Amino acid sequence: VNMTQDELKALVGQAALAYVVPGTVVGVGTGSTVNHFIDALATMKDRIAGAVSSSVASTERLRAHGITVLDAATVTSIPVYIDGADEIDHSGHMIKGGGAALTREKIVADLAERFVCIADESKLVEVLGSYPLPVEVIPMAAAQVARRFERQYGGQATLRAGVVTDNGNAILDVRGLRITEPLAMETEVNQWPGVVTVGIFGRHRASVCLLGTAAGVRTLT
Ligand code: A5P
Repeated sequence: VNMTQDELKALVGQAALAYVVPGTVVGVGTGSTVNHFIDALATMKDRIAGAVSSSVASTERLRAHGITVLDAATVTSIPVYIDGADEIDHSGHMIKGGGAALTREKIVADLAERFVCIADESKLVEVLGSYPLPVEVIPMAAAQVARRFERQYGGQATLRAGVVTDNGNAILDVRGLRITEPLAMETEVNQWPGVVTVGIFGRHRASVCLLGTAAGVRTLT
C-alpha cells in the first residue's frame, strides 16, 4: 500500500492515544500530526482531566472538540506530552519550531514526565540540521543572534518573514548547521542575549517516538 504523508501522520496520531493516561491532564503539541492526535483524543475526552496546550491553534482545535484546556500555570506536573517534530535523531533529540510554537512547546514538555513524539518516517535523520533550525528571538536581538550563528557555527540565519510568535517575538531559521552535539549547542545558544528559545530539544528529548511507516507504526525508545 502506498500511504500518503498525511495518512502516516493520522496513523501515529491515533497510535498516541495508547500513551494517554486516563484521569490525568494531557500535554498537547502543535502541527499537522498533532491535529490528528487531537481529533483522536476527542473520542476519550470524558476519560481525561483536560489538556494543556502549546499554541493558540491547538487550543482552538481542542476546544472545538469540547476538550477542556487548562492554563499551564495551574498545572504542576503531567505524565505525558505528545507532539510532532521537524527532525528527530535516533537518540530522540529533535528540531522543532517549524510552526513557530517552540517556546510554549518546550514549556509544556518541561512539565511532562515523558515526551511522546509522533512523526512520519521522513522526519527521522542521522544528524540534525538539514531542516533549518528555528530560534525564537526578541526582535531587537535578531541581527546580533544571526551574526553569532555565522561566527560560531557557520550557520546562515534568516528572519522568517511576516511571522510573529504567540509571544510577540520573531523567528530566525538557521541553515547550514550539522548538529552533532545537540545538548551542547542547545545549552550554548540558550545563553545568548535575546534568544528566547532555540528549537533544539536535547534536554527535553523524546522518550518515545512513534514513527509512521508504510509497514505500520514503528516505536523507537
Ligand atoms: C511546531 O512549532 C513544530 O515544532 C511542530 O511540532 C513541527 O513543525 C511538526 O509539525 P507537523 O506535524 O505539521 O510536521
